[in-house]
Amino acid sequence: MKYITTPIYYTNDLPHIAHAYTTLAADIVARFWRLQKQEVFFLTGTDEHGAKIAQAAEAAGKTAQEFVDILSEEFKKSWESLDIRPDGFIRTTDPKHEKVVQHFLQQLYDKGYIYKGEYKGWYCVGCEEFKTETQIGPDHTCPIHLKPLLEVAEETYLFKLTQFRDQLLELVQTDKLKIQPETRKNEVLSFIEKEGLQDVAISRKNVAWGISLPWDTTHTIYVWIDALLNYLSAADQGGPEFERGARPHFPPTLQLIGKDILRFHAIIWPALLLAVDLPLPQELFVHGYFTLGGHKMSKSLGNTISPEQLVARYGIDGARYVLISAIPFGDDGDVSWSRFDTIYQTNLANNLGNLVNRVQTMLERYQANTVPAVEVHDLHLAVVVREVNQSLGDWLKLHEATGAINAHVRELNSYIESNAPWQLAKDNKAQELAQVLATLAENVFVSAALLAPFIPETSAKILATFGASVADIDYATLGERNHTAGKTIRPVAPLFPRLLDKP
Ligand code: MSP
Repeated sequence: MKYITTPIYYTNDLPHIAHAYTTLAADIVARFWRLQKQEVFFLTGTDEHGAKIAQAAEAAGKTAQEFVDILSEEFKKSWESLDIRPDGFIRTTDPKHEKVVQHFLQQLYDKGYIYKGEYKGWYCVGCEEFKTETQIGPDHTCPIHLKPLLEVAEETYLFKLTQFRDQLLELVQTDKLKIQPETRKNEVLSFIEKEGLQDVAISRKNVAWGISLPWDTTHTIYVWIDALLNYLSAADQGGPEFERGARPHFPPTLQLIGKDILRFHAIIWPALLLAVDLPLPQELFVHGYFTLGGHKMSKSLGNTISPEQLVARYGIDGARYVLISAIPFGDDGDVSWSRFDTIYQTNLANNLGNLVNRVQTMLERYQANTVPAVEVHDLHLAVVVREVNQSLGDWLKLHEATGAINAHVRELNSYIESNAPWQLAKDNKAQELAQVLATLAENVFVSAALLAPFIPETSAKILATFGASVADIDYATLGERNHTAGKTIRPVAPLFPRLLDKP
């Protein structure tokens, strides 16, 4: 069983496309694994406790619970609007999760990993994080939220993170806990080695909206500890008893996270698991920021685009495609409506849409809607399939996978131009014409199959013209054997409508 997770999103505001980005990436990987006939559990959810959310609820004139109920639904709706289909959606206000968190903390306490102390430092409510010296911006501001930090000095319980230093270092160095890309792994190593670890505050005395500490109900559990344990509670089939062996999909195979939450996931999360002898995730993949106008896209900076806006302009698959191919997965990158428009227009409407239409029209006109059963030209299809599989499976270079398919689609359009089937028809070169059209049909079919994780609805429409569906394709044979010879073609509706004026 493969288990893939996204971070759980704060329900202080509506989702935007940077949240959608991680969730969509996970959906694409999950779909890709399923096509390889793997069993998959894909988890996402919402992070609903803490000061940030309590403040947002108050500002909206709602109780915290009413507020998170509404916002959590909005996240679900957004994912549905993008055809993102998680297997699990965890909410940290779910009583089952709360019980698991309390149980976990009690275990840590009983094992002697927790002690009472005081925490003094600078806190960012936006990040829900105590900042270390190097994370503090000018005049004690948060470099991410550009807002003043709060100076906090309060009684707290602390987790003995420092005890796990050497173990963590070794796990990261040896890739037993694999962190990708390499730069992020180095960042974690250098943080452990140079800056050094400190014990972590795991409770807050003055934040009422949270889960109570089981042994001292005057404290609530620090929202990040509560949140990290979602990956465990969502996988726990055994209920609050928290029995060993009762977690069929634990530990995670792959956890996708943004670069701002790397330390939590690469240091605190594995240390918590080590403390209770649970297995660690296999891999963390860290992606960069979506920026709009050069700034991290975020509600607090007011530079967001919503998933719904994207779907309204490009359709569901268009929105998925522009989002995932706009920037290299892993890096930071600036997006804009005009960039999205260009990707949609060039790669989808012009390259793919036209190709499918032309091939179908020619098969109708010259072959009475039947793909000729003849040998096809080798257009290096097997190489493209391998490239896509590696980019998606081994390296998580999602943009390179779409790039490889797109390059192939462009090549197919050039193949049409250079072989001019209409001329072959005129010249009565029936055999050559049949070969060119059979080559195009097979290449369109395989391209559509490769695109299934990215643009599932469109892929299904294209495959349906050949009377096929994703479910009955054997991915191992793509590019190796012919799938379309002798097939009857059905007409395909226009795939990518022309763009209207800006929303
Ligand atoms: N609730 C925590 C995560 C807890 S996971 C146990 C959180 N939530 S968040 O809503 O602020 O962010 C969730 C994810 O969205 C993070 O991975 C973050 O990096 C990502 N993004 C939020 N804004 C982003 C961009 N502008 N660009 C890319 N991703 C960013 O942190």
